[in-house]
Amino acid sequence: MTTEEAKEKLREYMALSQESKKEVRNDLRPVKTLRLPEYEKNRDIYTKAGLDAIKRGKLALLLLAGGMGTRLGFDGPKGTYPIDGDKSIFECLSDNLRRDIGDIRLPFFIMTSDKNDEATRAFFKEKNYFGYDPELIYFFRQEMAPACDFDGNLLFEGEDVPATSPNGNGGFFTSLIKAGYGEVLKERGVKWMNVFGVDNVLARIADPAFLGAVIAEKKSAAVKAVLKKDPAENVGVVCEKNGHPSIVEYFELDESQANQRDENGELLYCAGVTVNYLFDTSILLRTVEQKMPVHKVKKKIPYIDQNGNLIKPSEPNGYKFEILITDILQFFPDFLPVEVVREKEFAPVKNLHGVDSVDTARELLKARRDTDGD
Ligand code: UD1
Repeated sequence: MTTEEAKEKLREYMALSQESKKEVRNDLRPVKTLRLPEYEKNRDIYTKAGLDAIKRGKLALLLLAGGMGTRLGFDGPKGTYPIDGDKSIFECLSDNLRRDIGDIRLPFFIMTSDKNDEATRAFFKEKNYFGYDPELIYFFRQEMAPACDFDGNLLFEGEDVPATSPNGNGGFFTSLIKAGYGEVLKERGVKWMNVFGVDNVLARIADPAFLGAVIAEKKSAAVKAVLKKDPAENVGVVCEKNGHPSIVEYFELDESQANQRDENGELLYCAGVTVNYLFDTSILLRTVEQKMPVHKVKKKIPYIDQNGNLIKPSEPNGYKFEILITDILQFFPDFLPVEVVREKEFAPVKNLHGVDSVDTARELLKARRDTDGD
């Protein structure tokens, strides 16, 4: 991105983030989640419906792998991190896919960013696409956003090189369409898109029961959710916001809302989302025309000072701009949050150690191996 382009983009994002701030009303209401007992009761029916749709080519996959993974202190793309012995996160996800649909092949879109595109493609090639058909893998880059200091001045990461970062995971469909892949969806008659994050190594992808549930319940979107461990857990929760389906992020929910309980003592906003969604593609197509909110987030942004030295700040020194996938649901008429078993389907790799870390993910992978024998 040139300095001129960055300046213009910065003006655009600044204006959009101010607009989004003005529009923020917080009329939150709880929504019904498809709870485990009911999901299990209908599992066979859902699985049959989902498998049928998969076999008829109605599903495509989209992996969100544009994020930076800086919290792992790892330079490469997050998906290349060796999480299970030598196995990378990408390989674990590919194994998970095989566990659910065996040798069935679906179009597989992979969103990267300017920062990790080449390395991601090279890794997939080197690993022989984990046995997947390379003709069905479509890489595309998400947009980048310039970063600025607290006074709104562009920051630079090199001489005449504006500091940029991926613009959040919410622009995935717009970027896919810009890359020209709308044609692939059309030609193949894809009705559903399974969108998932790179950092949950237990994610079940192309899960027939999940797909069958959204079809059988006649909804236009769905998300896999786990019951929150405690009110302060760092997960977005499903809700209705200003009358629309929504997910409110952990940093947006105030303490009293996070602690609210119903008459049975259960958290009112109890369903924490894993980044595993199903979207009706015909509605996704309409979202491309919509203005998505832009979030201005305080971050530590490396920059060069007047003497040309690269400074890596230890405290936030400016803003990055992000569009979030959680904001896309407002454009859907309805959605189905589906509760899944945390220990079986949720092992987020956010940090190196501690909560939601490489360590906890490894333990969960081991526990799965011990239970399932693979
Ligand atoms: C995310 C979810 C949150 C959820 C939690 C569960 C969003 C906005 N938030 O939070 O609702 O409860 O995970 O673990 O989804 N990504 C990109 N490009 C970007 C930024 C992110 O592709 O510009 C990808 C990441 O690679 C990752 C996914 O999006 O696969 C999630 O993004 P991340 O920034 O890790 O979100 P969290 O704050 O952890």
